[in-house]
Amino acid sequence: MKHVLVIGSGAREHAIAKAFGASHHELGIAVAPGNAGIAKDFATLALSSVEEIVSYCAQNRPDLVFVGPENFLAEGLTDELQKLDIACIGPSQQAARIESSKIFAKEMMHKNGIPTASFFFTHDEKQAIEYIEKQGTFPLVIKADGLAGGKGVHIVQDKLQGIQAVKLLMSQTSKGVVIEQYLQGWEVSLFAFSDGEDFCSTVFSQDHKQLYDNDKGPNTGGMGAYAPVPEADMWLQEVEGQIIAPVLKAMQKEGCPFMGVLYCGLMITETGPKVVEFNCRLGDPEAQAVLPLLKTDFYDLCQAIADKRVGQLKLSWKPETCVAVVMASGGYPGSFQKGYPIQIDADLEAEICYAGVSSKDGELITSGGRVLSVLNLAESKEQARERVYRELKKIHFQDHYYRKDIGLRDNKI
Ligand code: AMP
Ligand code: GLY
Repeated sequence: MKHVLVIGSGAREHAIAKAFGASHHELGIAVAPGNAGIAKDFATLALSSVEEIVSYCAQNRPDLVFVGPENFLAEGLTDELQKLDIACIGPSQQAARIESSKIFAKEMMHKNGIPTASFFFTHDEKQAIEYIEKQGTFPLVIKADGLAGGKGVHIVQDKLQGIQAVKLLMSQTSKGVVIEQYLQGWEVSLFAFSDGEDFCSTVFSQDHKQLYDNDKGPNTGGMGAYAPVPEADMWLQEVEGQIIAPVLKAMQKEGCPFMGVLYCGLMITETGPKVVEFNCRLGDPEAQAVLPLLKTDFYDLCQAIADKRVGQLKLSWKPETCVAVVMASGGYPGSFQKGYPIQIDADLEAEICYAGVSSKDGELITSGGRVLSVLNLAESKEQARERVYRELKKIHFQDHYYRKDIGLRDNKI
């Protein structure tokens, strides 16, 4: 039996563990630290820092480690495990800068002609304000450098708002700000599995970041996703040829080849796809919609990454659509109550990926903003939506909230 360790504690990591669970290999799967919902399906290990994970791995030598969230990668978990000769899917600390430093990513794109919004970067508040004073075209997008969990982005409509955003971000970060052109279009995500040289890309998927229907309200960690996104397919070759391949080459040139999952956050604009951001890992909630569609054995895929054989792979996909809807605690992303019991009807016909849950007296209770994702596959997006929204009614907890329009965006510029 091969032992696989999945790192992370959210619905994405539950989806990753389920993808390993669907492998035809006999696998012992553990998730660290996981959560009480994941623990219903898999072993969980109380490891929550790079040190704890490395020391566990040194003693127990798992055959494969798959890292879900960016923070462990940015802290160098892969580098530490490589020193122990343990296969770990996820980029090195240097390569993880593609997500952990927006300025690294923007400069790398700029140097290599990769389509993205034009930008200005500075550590200096006065310079940032002077730059904004000179701008004639709004909106502008202002972001803090460094990991911000999607919360550090301000879209400003005029100079005054821009100056306020700069002042706020500068008071929150020591790392400087990026001011960039606003890209008009529609957003879609694409993952590429890379061994550092070659890659294979997945189907397109689409996150729904805002809290309310019709993309209104504050940004969240993601309220739902679906895959595939057929309107994006016409752009696949261009994204692979003009974005993914040159980025992987550029990362090699920078001396930090990118091994793991490259997440391309794309804006489809009038002039084609442009990069909004790269992440160094699977997206959440997109992974919950993409992984269940994968026909290729996930363990074989990870082994091919570890052995640098991705060039020989062609991923195959179920001819279906998967819709994943997040059930959140009412009040999220602001403050919310925790500790509500979660009840699930016995005739539920949906997969659940658990995120913000813990257990009390053997019962699952809510403990986070995004509590769980519910997902269903069907031949069409309409059917998958119908199923997921029917089944979701069989999951009960007080004050729950979910978006009713996951998968309904029109994807037009
Ligand atoms: P980021 O943290 O860079 O992923 O940005 C979060 C969200 O802000 C993105 O998913 C977009 O919806 C929006 N955004 C970021 N940069 C831009 C841009 N240059 N133009 C338009 N929207 C943007
Ligand atoms: N879905 C956006 C992210 O994972 O960053």
